[in-house]
Amino acid sequence: MAEECPMSLLEAALAVREKAYAPYSKFKVGAAVRGADGRIYAGCNVENVAYPEGTCAEAGAIALMVASGETRLSEALIVADSPLPVSPCGGCRQKLAEFGAPDTQITMTTLDGNTRTMSLAEIIPGAFGLAHMESE
Ligand code: THU
Repeated sequence: MAEECPMSLLEAALAVREKAYAPYSKFKVGAAVRGADGRIYAGCNVENVAYPEGTCAEAGAIALMVASGETRLSEALIVADSPLPVSPCGGCRQKLAEFGAPDTQITMTTLDGNTRTMSLAEIIPGAFGLAHMESE
């Protein structure tokens, strides 16, 4: 679901969260990223009976962004019905880092509006990057 403005990241993430396929965890997650093109790309978690094959909401949003031709994101928001602002898993932090910048703001929120915003540099300090693959 790629949406033009003026839909907000929160609105997009809340809407796509309703579509989450989470019959095993019952934990529906919605994520929305804003591409450098200004468009919003949203995704939900898609679980699988073979549990490790499930995918996170962030992965879905990023896949849609890339499939739409955009490879940079300027902000991201993740929402779930969680007592605490939902925290992206380690793998999703690395995925967000691939397309964002150290100062890209990542907003984590709950249905009740309990919200926390951190930069990518804060949520994945010391992220693996190209520099680690450069030989001397
Ligand atoms: N999940 C996400 O989609 N994003 C997150 O940031 C945290 C966890 C999903 C994966 C799984 O479908 C469910 O939440 C429970 O872990």
